[in-house]
Amino acid sequence: MKVLGVSGSPIKNSNTDKALKAVLEATGLETEFIKLTDYVVAPCMACLGCVKTNRCVIHDDGIVLAEKAKEADALVVAGFTPYSTLDSRTKAFIERLYPLRHNHGFMAGKPGAAVITSCVPEDNKQLPPACEMGTNAVIFYMMEEGMRFVGALKIQGNVPCIRCGFGDQCKMSGIRMLYGPTATIDSVGIKTFESQPLNVDAAGELGRKIAEALIA
Ligand SMILES: Cc1cc2nc3c(=O)[nH]c(=O)nc-3n(C[C@H](O)[C@H](O)[C@H](O)COP(=O)(O)O)c2cc1C
Repeated sequence: MKVLGVSGSPIKNSNTDKALKAVLEATGLETEFIKLTDYVVAPCMACLGCVKTNRCVIHDDGIVLAEKAKEADALVVAGFTPYSTLDSRTKAFIERLYPLRHNHGFMAGKPGAAVITSCVPEDNKQLPPACEMGTNAVIFYMMEEGMRFVGALKIQGNVPCIRCGFGDQCKMSGIRMLYGPTATIDSVGIKTFESQPLNVDAAGELGRKIAEALIA
């Protein structure tokens, strides 16, 4: 049994990556972690060139990754949420799994899960529900391909302004937008996956659920 985990986060060792790795580890099974920035994956052209062959006509790494997804027994998709929806790298990867659909439904029946990071605090009701939007993008892919969606791990990551150099001084500061006019880099602090024990527990639980779904 092999579980494939794919992260669309471009940041090295990001919260998204760490959360995904924790989920994979907790499955106790053979796993493979893919960082999409190590690959070139264009979005789907909607040309339907894959219908008869189950193989994409775009000659980039999307073909290799679709093959990995086809061979895996379960898939975990991890992404972040720029402008309140799933990041484009992760979305392009999902679109390029379309060749696995026609006539065979190669992903159907496989357990699937999502790991999504967003910087909107859970109690913020003013901003769009980024985490939910990102999670839904993964859920709907899995639903439409007949996969068995097992669950989502939602992680609070960092607003990019924390490390941009202008922080709370910028006219457009996301720190103040998210946390109020008096918020500062220090008052908000840096959020790491490992410093949020509930997330670490939830990652373990999701990994175990994936393993259980594979055995069932
Ligand atoms: C261009 C850009 C736009 C972003 N917009 C949002 C947003 O609208 N909502 C949100 O929750 N996070 C947004 N983010 C933040 C990412 O989701 C955040 O960096 C993510 O939680 C990853 O966190 P990490 O760096 O701690 O891994 C944005 C990030 C970038 C780079």
